[in-house]
Amino acid sequence: MPKVFDKETAAPVISGGAGPALKREPGTGAERDGFRPAGSRDARPDVPRKLPHPPRVGLIGAGGFGSRHAKALALLAREGLCEIAAACDPRLAALPESWHEPFLRETRFFRTHEQMFRADPLDYIVIVSPLHLHEEHCLRALAAGDALVYLEKVPVPTFAQLRNLLEQPGADRVAVGFQMLEAPAIRGLKQRLLGGKLGKIREIWASGLWPRLTSYYERTNWAGKTMLDGRPVLDGPLTNALAHLVQNVFFLAGDESGECARPLTATGSFARARPIPSYDFGWMKGVMENGIVFNILAGHCSREFVPWKVVVRTDQGDYTVGEEDLPFSDALLVESHRSLLASRRGNRRPTCRLADCLGYSMATSTAWLASPGIQDIPAAEVTLDGAATDAVYHVESIHQLIANRRTESPSASRKLDWLHWNPEVNCREALAAAAGKSCEQFCR
Ligand SMILES: NC(=O)c1ccc[n+]([C@@H]2O[C@H](COP(=O)([O-])OP(=O)(O)OC[C@H]3O[C@@H](n4cnc5c(N)ncnc54)[C@H](O)[C@@H]3O)[C@@H](O)[C@H]2O)c1
Repeated sequence: MPKVFDKETAAPVISGGAGPALKREPGTGAERDGFRPAGSRDARPDVPRKLPHPPRVGLIGAGGFGSRHAKALALLAREGLCEIAAACDPRLAALPESWHEPFLRETRFFRTHEQMFRADPLDYIVIVSPLHLHEEHCLRALAAGDALVYLEKVPVPTFAQLRNLLEQPGADRVAVGFQMLEAPAIRGLKQRLLGGKLGKIREIWASGLWPRLTSYYERTNWAGKTMLDGRPVLDGPLTNALAHLVQNVFFLAGDESGECARPLTATGSFARARPIPSYDFGWMKGVMENGIVFNILAGHCSREFVPWKVVVRTDQGDYTVGEEDLPFSDALLVESHRSLLASRRGNRRPTCRLADCLGYSMATSTAWLASPGIQDIPAAEVTLDGAATDAVYHVESIHQLIANRRTESPSASRKLDWLHWNPEVNCREALAAAAGKSCEQFCR
């Protein structure tokens, strides 16, 4: 076993699992239902404690994407901006090579977050655990002290969970890892839209296809699931891998710098080519509170990669931003941590606060509730390419619809006639009606 993992045995051993989710009585007034009016968040001042220098970082989930965070944080540690004090993961033996970086040699490893929290005070907790554990890990991180919390996207699978997190004391200390919002191409387009010279936004159309092979679904127990261990997962392109696309749309549609729009109505259609419990193609549409129409399509059932693209249609023309316009994801990850740490030092607004995910969460949860359920894509539409862990399911009609968007007007793109839709519903009404639903009923 490499030297860096020897510290694992030196860590205090504390038995016990994660325990029940923490709950608190609902807040008061307009915040009670989680729908804080736009602009009102700043009325409740966030008075953060000053971060010690360098802040001590603890990572929850060190394998998978967590190892990319470790590399990003190691870069910042090299600049003296943080110290990677601790990490926890139940599968320590399986941690990748990136954990052998010199800057990570002093990191203490634990099997559980409870052990990690008890060992040392932390100033910055980074949560990169599986989706179904985000709510619990965030609740525990908030209760463990007054650390700043970086919660990977998607914050939580359901709107009810987001509302629960927002009601916790210290929720203002949580930022969400939608790192694409750091990209100059996205921030620049938003500034130009707000500047008024590009006209009034009428519609936003966004889509992308990221092929996912069998190995992707086999890498972890929550991939392709709607539920796991009685908790919502809702893994799928719109609600996990390409969730960035949804957040980008709500960010670009926001009426003020840094703010995200909220949906008024929404519906969704979710389908699967691969035999998984969840979906591998999703289409969400609706109207935002500010009148902007949105259509967001994302899929994994394609043998070809179609980079995501957002087309903002105003009364003066179409303005686009696409995946090719952004720096590589690892660079954005470094930027995401750098900017959050700097925001706390300078007492500035973080790029993506928990409350900035309300639009994303309201839209995806409503689309899910309004959908007719996940449908199997007709076999005649599906081709299976490759074999074993390299196998990929391909749906040519979806590929055509999304790839052709480059040459024709988004609105004129032909529809998928096998896809079932229910009418759009009012988001607040649908979410209020769903508040009493069990997790099983919600994730059906
Ligand atoms: N921002 C991005 O671009 C991006 C990209 C990929 C993944 N992610 C996010 O990162 C998170 C993890 O995704 P992944 O694909 O790496 O998942 P994964 O399942 O492949 O890896 C998760 C890691 O967490 C560990 N883990 C499991 N249970 C744990 C627990 N109770 N405590 C601590 N660690 C635990 C696992 O052992 C594993 O090492 C998800 O939220 C995902 O959406 C974000």
